[in-house]
Amino acid sequence: MFPLFLPIFLLVSIVRADVVEVPASSFNSYGELETYWDYLYPWGSDHNGAARMVGNSTDHSRISVASGTLTLKATPVTGQPPSTAAPYPAINYFSGAIHAKEQININGTDAVGYQVEGEFSSPTAVGVRCWPAFWLTAVNGWPPEADIGEWKGTNNSWFNTFNTSTVVDTTIVSWPGDYSFHSLKAVLRVIPNNTQDLSIEYYKDNVLEATHIAANFYGAPMWLIVNLQMEGSSGTPGPANGATYQARNVQVTRLTT
Ligand SMILES: *[C@@H]1O[C@H](CO)[C@@H](O)[C@H](O)[C@H]1NC(C)=O
Ligand SMILES: *[C@@H]1O[C@H](CO)[C@@H](O)[C@H](O)[C@H]1NC(C)=O
Ligand SMILES: *[C@@H]1O[C@H](CO)[C@@H](O)[C@H](O)[C@H]1NC(C)=O
Ligand SMILES: *[C@@H]1O[C@H](CO)[C@@H](O)[C@H](O)[C@H]1NC(C)=O
Ligand SMILES: *[C@@H]1O[C@H](CO)[C@@H](O)[C@H](O)[C@H]1NC(C)=O
Repeated sequence: MFPLFLPIFLLVSIVRADVVEVPASSFNSYGELETYWDYLYPWGSDHNGAARMVGNSTDHSRISVASGTLTLKATPVTGQPPSTAAPYPAINYFSGAIHAKEQININGTDAVGYQVEGEFSSPTAVGVRCWPAFWLTAVNGWPPEADIGEWKGTNNSWFNTFNTSTVVDTTIVSWPGDYSFHSLKAVLRVIPNNTQDLSIEYYKDNVLEATHIAANFYGAPMWLIVNLQMEGSSGTPGPANGATYQARNVQVTRLTT
């Protein structure tokens, strides 16, 4: 009897296994980066801050990878036209952004959840006024948005879950201003008998810091973005010498059980 059970058990475990969609090795080489990520924002180079994102497979001046670490570098620039994205801020920097090719969509069929995690070194000193982030945003319209890391103050990072453009759950955690790496993780999951909302657990250094109920995230595809914006919501003026933001061990796991 026993050998008969073995293939069935294996089949079930293959079907049910969680799937690593973006492995922690994706910043080991440009080949791996370009397998799992695309350059810039999903919609292009500009957004709601003072940085215009620059980079592609031949220009790695602002977006580079080596030894498993992604480095995004903002440098001052003059003479650029304003951002093409609302609220059309002046462009004072060139900087970097990437987004995962895999969209995150949790609707109980292919995924009952996603785990999105990484380790980050970010500027947070007084007056730095740069705006690094590790975040999810809606593919269609907006919100949903979930900010897993958003550094825009002194020695802290923000977890934000947007129910609507103005109704937001925010949990702020401390973040040392010494550029040391610390981990962040969000675990998004379906809620039993709820086909509208998801739960999101937010962790810093593997400590659960908050659980938010994210309205209308169920079945809404989202992009995962890593970017170094400048000024905007972090204040002005930005630093004269620019800024550097790093990420490593970024992993995206689709949860099936
Ligand atoms: C990459 O970007 C540079 C400018 O930053 C541009 O000159 C070059 O044509 C781009 N290459 C590709 C392959 O798009
Ligand atoms: C559920 O999500 C998957 C992607 O994960 C998608 O292919 C499928 O169309 C979605 N189903 C519905 C009903 O939205
Ligand atoms: C967001 O919506 C969920 C689900 O309705 C609710 O539980 C949560 O309290 C809302 N968050 C805020 C900030 O209102
Ligand atoms: C921020 O953190 C740095 C080093 O971790 C520390 O030197 C500095 O005093 C902190 N600043 C504030 C305002 O807490
Ligand atoms: C959830 O739905 C299942 C059937 O799909 C039902 O048995 C269960 O009682 C429901 N639970 C709640 C809390 O409504």
